[in-house]
Amino acid sequence: MIDKRIKIAPSILSADFSVMGEEVKDLEKNGADIIHVDVMDGVFVNNISFGMKMVKDIRKATSLPLDAHLMIIEPWKYVERFAEAGADIITVHYEACGEKLQETLELIKSTGKKCGLVINPDTPVDPVRSLIPACDMVLVMSVFPGMGGQKFIPYVLPKVVEIRKIIDESGKNIDLEIDGGVNLQNASIIKQSGVNVLVAGNTVFSAADRRGVIKALRES
Ligand code: DX5
Ligand code: ZN
Repeated sequence: MIDKRIKIAPSILSADFSVMGEEVKDLEKNGADIIHVDVMDGVFVNNISFGMKMVKDIRKATSLPLDAHLMIIEPWKYVERFAEAGADIITVHYEACGEKLQETLELIKSTGKKCGLVINPDTPVDPVRSLIPACDMVLVMSVFPGMGGQKFIPYVLPKVVEIRKIIDESGKNIDLEIDGGVNLQNASIIKQSGVNVLVAGNTVFSAADRRGVIKALRES
């Protein structure tokens, strides 16, 4: 039985880094299901955020699952350290792994953590199709990775529909996540396309009522 319950994963990229522990506690208190942790190396993407020490420290502040989205080159070099730091889901980019993709996904599994595969907005499904049934999560980027607060790219939605079909046909319990530009206006169409995990940075952190926004994203 595939669990398609809607989960909301606020991205702490939009949080106040000087009080990150408090931010994460606040997200948990306000109904977040997952904490999305955007790791950027300044090479794979044109921005630098934080690394495994952030995962280690926020691990102490919450019992929610930590979803480490690795926007880094050669991610296989760091998988074990993110696992040790306390990530529950480790997600790597097809575009960063090349022919090492399968090996990297297997490495994530060998750590006992959930393994996630992410594709950029302009990457088709075909090159990753055969690997989807072996993942715990597939993440479709709906902005080009690098920063929060960008505009949602609607042309990724047919790809979401296609991946939902692959997941359903596999019969496996695989989450389908979307990341970038999610807001109260597009949440409904995104969910109708087959997504069950919505990442939201700017939408949650710019809201005066975080609880209300998280609930509205889930129920809209
Ligand atoms: C983009 C990151 C996203 C982003 C989400 O590189 O992977 O997680 O920060 O932020 P919003 O929801 O503001 O687009
Ligand atoms: Zn992300």
